[in-house]
Amino acid sequence: FKGGTMEEKRIAAKRAVDYVHDGMIVGLGTGTTAYWAIKKLALKVHEGLNIKAIATSIQSEELARKLGISLISFSDIDEIDITIDGADEVDYNFNLIKGGGGALLREKIVAAASKQLVIVVDQSKLVNRLGLFPLPVEIVKFGHEVTMKNLSKLQCKAKLRMKNEKVFVTDNGNYIVDCHFDSIENPKELHNKINLIPGVVDNGLFVDMADKVIVGYQNGEVKELY
Ligand code: A5P
Repeated sequence: FKGGTMEEKRIAAKRAVDYVHDGMIVGLGTGTTAYWAIKKLALKVHEGLNIKAIATSIQSEELARKLGISLISFSDIDEIDITIDGADEVDYNFNLIKGGGGALLREKIVAAASKQLVIVVDQSKLVNRLGLFPLPVEIVKFGHEVTMKNLSKLQCKAKLRMKNEKVFVTDNGNYIVDCHFDSIENPKELHNKINLIPGVVDNGLFVDMADKVIVGYQNGEVKELY
């Protein structure tokens, strides 16, 4: 079992929330680590913090609404001040693999619109080289068979993501293909090659996007990497 404990995730997420200040527009990530950031933000909102948020998935949007965080949409804003999100892998150049939960497309749209992207992870997510975690790629349903064949030509094993014996469908009505590379030598080049394949909407490589990575360790320590 790869993956840190809930506590490692919680302490990293809690630290990230220190960077959220009054009046900010905040991007809410998706997943079990971002969950803790949303919970902590909601606590601060109840204590008087004034923010507006935009979520990276229906799941996070529902959680935020339930916890009393005010939501806003892209039609009301030009920029997001800060986004706090998790990742599946982080390398030492702060390149990321995201999309383990299937939210990569909205996560990338929100990250790209953010002045600051803070990534929160447990120590198990830090890697020397990306790629052991299968790279999620969001593709449209039409022609997905041929899109998958084209992805396989990039030297990976491409698997259509399933959930409860049915094909997994994203919040955007698309499919996810998990591409097993084992090791990704040049994340930027691969990112661009994948996105040139017709039918691909986007992929889970986030290159040159993260500004800060906050890591939670088993001994209760939290480290901020710049
Ligand atoms: C969601 O699609 C992902 O990009 C998540 O951010 C990523 O999978 C990290 O999730 P956990 O915090 O649950 O490990």
